[in-house]
Amino acid sequence: MSNDRIYTVEEAVTLDLDGILHLHRQYINESLIDLLQSYGVPRRFIKAEGIRLWDNVGNAYLDFLCSYGALALGHNHPEVLAAVAAVTSQPNFFVLSPGAITGALASSLAAISPGDLQRSFFCNSGSEAVEGAVKLARAATGRSRIVAATEGFHGKTLGALSVTGHEPLKTVYHPLLPNVAHVPYGDPDAIADSLRRKPAAAVILEPIQGPAGIIVPPDGYLKAVEKECKKHGTLLILDEIQTGLGRTGKMFACEHEGVVPDVICVSKGLSGGVYPIGAYITSDRVWRQAYGTKKKASLHSSTFGGNTFACAAALAAINITVREDLPGRAAEMGGYFRGRLQALAERHDILGEVRGRGLMIGLDFSPQGNPLTRPVRKQVAALIAVQMLQRHNIISAYTFNNANVIRLAPPLNVATEDLDIYVDALEDVLDKNSGFAGLALSTTRAIRQNRRG
Ligand SMILES: Cc1ncc(COP(=O)(O)O)c(C=O)c1O
Repeated sequence: MSNDRIYTVEEAVTLDLDGILHLHRQYINESLIDLLQSYGVPRRFIKAEGIRLWDNVGNAYLDFLCSYGALALGHNHPEVLAAVAAVTSQPNFFVLSPGAITGALASSLAAISPGDLQRSFFCNSGSEAVEGAVKLARAATGRSRIVAATEGFHGKTLGALSVTGHEPLKTVYHPLLPNVAHVPYGDPDAIADSLRRKPAAAVILEPIQGPAGIIVPPDGYLKAVEKECKKHGTLLILDEIQTGLGRTGKMFACEHEGVVPDVICVSKGLSGGVYPIGAYITSDRVWRQAYGTKKKASLHSSTFGGNTFACAAALAAINITVREDLPGRAAEMGGYFRGRLQALAERHDILGEVRGRGLMIGLDFSPQGNPLTRPVRKQVAALIAVQMLQRHNIISAYTFNNANVIRLAPPLNVATEDLDIYVDALEDVLDKNSGFAGLALSTTRAIRQNRRG
């Protein structure tokens, strides 16, 4: 007999951890819960503010994952929440008449975007922004081919997955979109070759590959790609879903090289982590080529795209980002943080490399060729992240496509003291573990202890 039931919100917020795990096991993704439980991860969080979270027994946690960088202002920024509260009596969704907040957000995005990027399309996620950008490029150029990078990540909807370059995510979904070529990341000659061989609508790249393990391309890469794209009449789409809005120390990562792409995709930090929102921003010229007639005005749209609440959150987040110079702060805090982590890497062989820009940081724990360590080889970063949680109440995770790299994406307004807490905790974990086998054993012990405690 089914025990499915309808809950009220009041009932739902009083569920304990066992109750929550049961609902997720039964009604959502049982395998994911198995995975999280095998690492001893789930907690019952009841409060979130800035970089901090609190569980139901009064423990405080520091969040260095921040929803994979979506919480650029930390959890529940009061000014963003207030901006949403200020518009809740207005119509939220499309009422045939264009909304004030949506228009104001588009103007604000044009003001902070490089070069002639002016026109926005609003949607609800990063994948949707990529879908929109790929369709825009096809519509504007009349071509269909897309060039992307191996190990690049652009989302999991079918179009976005087609340009994603990590095969294990794609295997069970083939055939995907045709006419997509993947070339090695960081090599402008590979792009030039590909464009010379066959015309393409667009090249799509991340300025720094995030889920691949925080891979920073060689200096001058994006500039060279921009030049090749111009030469071949191919649009350059930069997926700044992780790197954009201050994360790397500039408002957009392409500004490090003075590159102005034809399209920028944003999402994650756009609403300060308060509402789902995504967007692409493009030039007037490209937009007109694709959609500049009444007949084409509704070719691409999204029911909830540009809704008032999400746009109000995004407007507030942009104002905070500009007013507090969060790109500058990310550059400064990132330099400090990476410096301290680098010093740690010099004392501990297990921490191979500290990579990244601004506050988009990867800690690469790739073990250096010890055959005895093979069983835990691909899990070092995961084991470290688990110990950081079990021993120090610090939340972090390995990158999507590379389980040996911990991704750190603290809020852009993070305090120096919180960065220090992270580094000291990591030092403690590294000091307590010599060798990879020892790491596996002591992680298991830490998980058990935590369960008993
Ligand atoms: C670079 C990049 N592009 C696209 C996406 C997809 O965004 P979403 O998960 O909101 O669909 C992500 C998400 O992690 C991302 O990091």
